Amino acid sequence: MAEHNKLKELAHRNTAAEEGGGAERRERQHREGKLSVRERIAFLLDEGTFEETDKFVTHRCTDFGMEAQRYPGDGFVTGYGRIEGRVVFVFAQDFTVFGGSLSETNAAKIVKLMDTAMRVGAPIIGLNDSGGARIQEGVVSLAGYADIFLRNTLASGVVPQISAILGPCAGGAVYSPAITDFTLMTAKTSYMFVTGPDVIKTVTHEDVTKDALGGALTHNETSGVAHFMAHDDAECLAMVRELLSFLPSNNLDDPPRKPCTDPADRASKELDTIIPAESNQPYEMKDVIGHVVDDGYFFEVQEHFAKNIVVGFARMNGRPVGIVANQPAYLAGVLDINASVKGARFVRFCDAFNLPLITFEDVPGFLPGTQQEHGGIIRHGAKLLYAFAEATVPKLTVITRKAYGGAYCVMSSKHIRTDVNLAWPTAEIAVMGPEGAVNIVYKRELDKVLKQAQAVWPQGKAFTEEEKLAILADARKEKVEEFRERFANPYVAAERGYVDAVIQPSETRRRLNTALDMLQGKRDKNPPKKHGNIPL
Ligand code: HXC
Repeated sequence: MAEHNKLKELAHRNTAAEEGGGAERRERQHREGKLSVRERIAFLLDEGTFEETDKFVTHRCTDFGMEAQRYPGDGFVTGYGRIEGRVVFVFAQDFTVFGGSLSETNAAKIVKLMDTAMRVGAPIIGLNDSGGARIQEGVVSLAGYADIFLRNTLASGVVPQISAILGPCAGGAVYSPAITDFTLMTAKTSYMFVTGPDVIKTVTHEDVTKDALGGALTHNETSGVAHFMAHDDAECLAMVRELLSFLPSNNLDDPPRKPCTDPADRASKELDTIIPAESNQPYEMKDVIGHVVDDGYFFEVQEHFAKNIVVGFARMNGRPVGIVANQPAYLAGVLDINASVKGARFVRFCDAFNLPLITFEDVPGFLPGTQQEHGGIIRHGAKLLYAFAEATVPKLTVITRKAYGGAYCVMSSKHIRTDVNLAWPTAEIAVMGPEGAVNIVYKRELDKVLKQAQAVWPQGKAFTEEEKLAILADARKEKVEEFRERFANPYVAAERGYVDAVIQPSETRRRLNTALDMLQGKRDKNPPKKHGNIPL
């Protein structure tokens, strides 16, 4: 009988713990278009797999009448479960309990979870919806954040870490998601900032809304802080599941291979005609990717940020790969500061987690101008170079059109240990584009043409810029053609073995798949060191 009462007590305690801050506050979550914390976990995990930990933990704060307000779990739901059958660890903030704020004790729950996740080698997923540090607790709450930041750093490159931002995320709390590998945000219901609109108003007198300052669109499009944007919680959690389907559970595992029905040697005739006749005409690089990868399916990362470079995941014959591609349809695919940083971070993620890298290259170079130079394009561009150079996973490059200047070296060239470099016949590999090159290499000859024109020009009258261009048009055209013939093709590079093969575009998928098979057992490493010094 006594045993029976204990079971009843347990049932009662469990029900009470699942109540969180109560029905009314939960209702408010729903009114705001958000799911409750337990609904979120149910959406995220395979049905019935969630095992909760530390459900009865409570806070120890005695200030501000806090003794009277104790909620089992203390506003965080933590535990482990499965996604597509694989173990993951989850912590989720319950906004209905003290606004999901972080306390000494719920921070300890997360720390315990993260330590276990690292020991067993499984991803960590954080579902964030919180007012930040629990104000009533003061410095012990800040200490809790610092404990988490340390774990985020130690787990980086060991297990994938994913942050879904499903509500407020402010103050120093944003730095935990920032250290994790991927940040997803929900439109309208989530925001991230270091200081909110009120503080900004006081300090700089600037008026800005929460959304404009740190909403999902801002961080997906402008700042690059977020990697994905979802309409609502359900879509966001589905995206987390999908993202994980491309990733290994830890840095010692291979990414999960799926059965593939798309023939590995499928030819895509469309690729033979995809490059426009004129070298300065844009085309959609995502179409190229679509024709090459399994079932044309590409899971893009940071779709809205620095669109001149495209990064994301796809499968090749069932094998997850990371794709990095210049985008000729946006700013001609030029590399600027944002594109370099976006590309570098993605390359490093793939290298840390054993995802082969496929690079599609059509790049006119780095973006010129004072804005970029003063912004540190040298330092930022070097990040992309460093990331590709240090990567030891299988690396494959397809040059579809332009590979000019420093960008040729940077974009996974042969010289920085890329295993397989292929070029389409339309590839143009040169120090710079013919237009720019002609102005320098043939300067004297062009000056001569101008001088001849000057002789028959009204005395004392200088040429306008338009007149100059018109006078030089024929001579330049001829020289541009001459230059293009000599240098802007793949054969000079192929003669030296800088590209392994010049291939028919339609056979790209087959070529890449056979190369990936060949590289299956690749083992490469960097010299022993504590860590490199990437130009941050
Ligand atoms: C304790 C908090 C809290 C917090 C919210 N609540 N934030 N309790 N500590 N940090 C409580 C509220 O008292 C309220 O309790 C409930 O959560 C819901 O909050 P509301 O204000 O009613 O919700 P809403 O209007 O949606 O506004 C949400 C909010 C606002 C924008 C997040 O609550 C807010 O500004 N909170 C403070 C944010 C902040 O400055 N945090 C510290 C940041 S500094 P009841 O009982 O009424 O339901 C930081 C340092 C981290 O985090 C350092 C790491 C290095």
